[in-house]
Amino acid sequence: MYKLLFILTLSLSLIACKEKKTPMKPIYLDESFSVNKRVEDLLSRMTLEEKIAQMCQYVGLEHMKKAEQNLTKEQMEESDAHGFYPELHSSDVEEMITKGLIGSFLHVVDVNEVNHLQALAQKSRLKIPLLIGIDAIHGTGLVEGATIYPTPIGLASTWAPDLVRKVSVETAKEMRATGATWTFTPNIDVARDARWGRVGETFGEDPLLVSKMGVAMIQGLQHSEKNGHFNVVACAKHLIAGSQSVNGINGAPTDLSERTIREIFLPPYKAAVEAGVFSIMTAHNELNGVACHADKWMMNDILREELGFKGFFVSDWMDIERLVTRHFVAPNQKEACFQTIDAGMDMHMHGPGFLKPVEALVKEGRISVHRIDQSIRRILEAKFKLGLFENPFVNTTGTTETTETTGVLFNRLHQATALEAAQKSIVLLKNKDNLLPINKLKYKKILVTGPNSNNETILGDWVWKQPKKNVVTILEGIREVAKGCEITYLNVGEDVRKIVPSKLLEAKRKAQKSDLAIVVVGENSFRWKWQEKTCGENAARSELNLVGEQQKLIKMINSTGVPTLVVFVNGRPLATEWIAENIPAIIESWEPGSMGGKAVAQIIFGEVNPSGKLPITIPRSVGHQLSIYNAKPSQYFHKYVTSRSDNLFSFGYGLSYSKFKYDNVRVSKDTIRSDESVQISVEVTNVGDVKGDEIVQFYLRDEFSSVTRPVKELKDFKRISLDPKESKVVSFKVMPHMLGFLGKDLVETIESGTFIGMVGSSSRRTDLKSALFYVTKD
Ligand code: BGC
Repeated sequence: MYKLLFILTLSLSLIACKEKKTPMKPIYLDESFSVNKRVEDLLSRMTLEEKIAQMCQYVGLEHMKKAEQNLTKEQMEESDAHGFYPELHSSDVEEMITKGLIGSFLHVVDVNEVNHLQALAQKSRLKIPLLIGIDAIHGTGLVEGATIYPTPIGLASTWAPDLVRKVSVETAKEMRATGATWTFTPNIDVARDARWGRVGETFGEDPLLVSKMGVAMIQGLQHSEKNGHFNVVACAKHLIAGSQSVNGINGAPTDLSERTIREIFLPPYKAAVEAGVFSIMTAHNELNGVACHADKWMMNDILREELGFKGFFVSDWMDIERLVTRHFVAPNQKEACFQTIDAGMDMHMHGPGFLKPVEALVKEGRISVHRIDQSIRRILEAKFKLGLFENPFVNTTGTTETTETTGVLFNRLHQATALEAAQKSIVLLKNKDNLLPINKLKYKKILVTGPNSNNETILGDWVWKQPKKNVVTILEGIREVAKGCEITYLNVGEDVRKIVPSKLLEAKRKAQKSDLAIVVVGENSFRWKWQEKTCGENAARSELNLVGEQQKLIKMINSTGVPTLVVFVNGRPLATEWIAENIPAIIESWEPGSMGGKAVAQIIFGEVNPSGKLPITIPRSVGHQLSIYNAKPSQYFHKYVTSRSDNLFSFGYGLSYSKFKYDNVRVSKDTIRSDESVQISVEVTNVGDVKGDEIVQFYLRDEFSSVTRPVKELKDFKRISLDPKESKVVSFKVMPHMLGFLGKDLVETIESGTFIGMVGSSSRRTDLKSALFYVTKD
């Protein structure tokens, strides 16, 4: 009956169209059909070449043009000089778009270029819009004028997933306003080795915290108000464990047991897939001898089959090519394409090295059309769910200009969120004799110096140079907040490796004449000054001290006896033992973003009470890697013979101007069955004089087990606000899955016995109060 009706309606509309002489819209261009139907309709119209083209990504034209700057196309052809892609000129790429031979672009940072590219795509036979990808890691920072939020390590220090969700919703809005529809974030690598330059891009060392932050980011980026649609597509990366490569070097091999992969590195992916992440990027590195871009076990068996990933995989930058040139597992590009597609890859980042070899592989019958169709379905689904077929263009009137009230980029709301995120991300590491907050009446003459005190290092990696007026440096923040104080600024140069030597003595002299010195030091992740970078992508370090003469600068100032405050701006933990022991007040600001300078100043002068807590351990030296909090019980049994064995600052640690007291830790039941839950509660009181936020952390330990288990594992946390003298009872529900672990056979199990629940203000033993409960299997 329904079939009959459908045929009748179809015939009637056909007749109507004929009469009006208007061609009928193909199903895939008709929004009233389901995404599924539209995908299938479009797929049925595509040639093999058009299909594979959807798997091909290219860098933006302007990016290419930079490489062609001084040469015409003819000159390039005649000489050995090559542009970005040796065999292609940007004008060839434009033509390819009109032929439907490109599916996606990355690094297009100008909205007019996006519209130009999409207009070219509309000239193609099937008018399939382009997916425009960008690294919007903490705001869409490669675009000039965007709001820059704290880098993810700072966002993780807020322990506030809701705030991260809000940051991500705003980032998605700024992306759409500038034409990008896909972002290569969140980076859910669990970071346990601070030598790796990309720690700042991550949410730190704990699988649960990384999972919660990753999920919040994915939700904020992807979830659209229009049901079933995407704001933008998120991308979880880098599958897997590139954060624990040999010696911390980006892209170097990783060798880990399956247990560690499953216990530490995989949980964030499980959470991301459950949250519906629609793309995943594979990692540069090899894992246990298998290049991640050709790892069928990881991509197919684990991510697709076991975890149920429904979106598409994208390669990392030229890493399919590197199966030939770096990993030496494929003798040529065609073989590399075969290996990666066979493992599960859906999209090539980037360039001309994919279409032809893959077409040949299909024609030879080595890759089936069915396999190609699987990839195309996923990529097209993203494009439909982004609404690109309805409108691939960005309306540039009134949306992209940086106006504080009406624009999208860096508008007032976004600035306010960036400021809030910065305030909550900053971690107060030390405050001897309550030097902070600074009393403006007592400390009137203040020296501000250090290479990071007045520059854009606060913006972190994946950011291009931003308009000066959009960035509040730390010096500017201090000048704004410390009204009434006399601020002396000494510029010692902005390159952290090269403090101007003559400035060291001058700093000392100036400190002698001051009541207080604020020294801003650390690292820099300047993408636009690649040579000065000490941190960020491809900036691994073999030591973790302050580079250059920075510590000398601090020592000289401190030697004058003037109270000294050190502010760190850095994208990875710094092992600065001398500073931790000798300097009375230390602030870890990470890379706090556009409004970071103001947030730092507000904390220094007490307008804001610090509340951030470390999402990663700060080790005593580079030799103390991996000083993770969730270590196995035997890790600290024997001690180092020439240095202390403990950490400088522990995971979960951070001070406040309030004082929080923990009492009355209770469990709701002494004994539970393994399929039951139990409540653990604690009373937290603010015994200080100012209102403050506390992050109450809950850890668990299985006392005896058939395989070794960590001394503690974070299972939940809550961020609460308390007025002076106010108390709150904070409860955590211990669910059965929290009791489980992977047995000897790597199968999830719960064993009976005693469990130790610990609640408190950090992972440090002395900061935790515990309560026991017993689990039975009957
Ligand atoms: C990085 C990725 C990034 C990609 C595109 C690569 O070098 O490893 O994380 O998304 O470049 O910019």
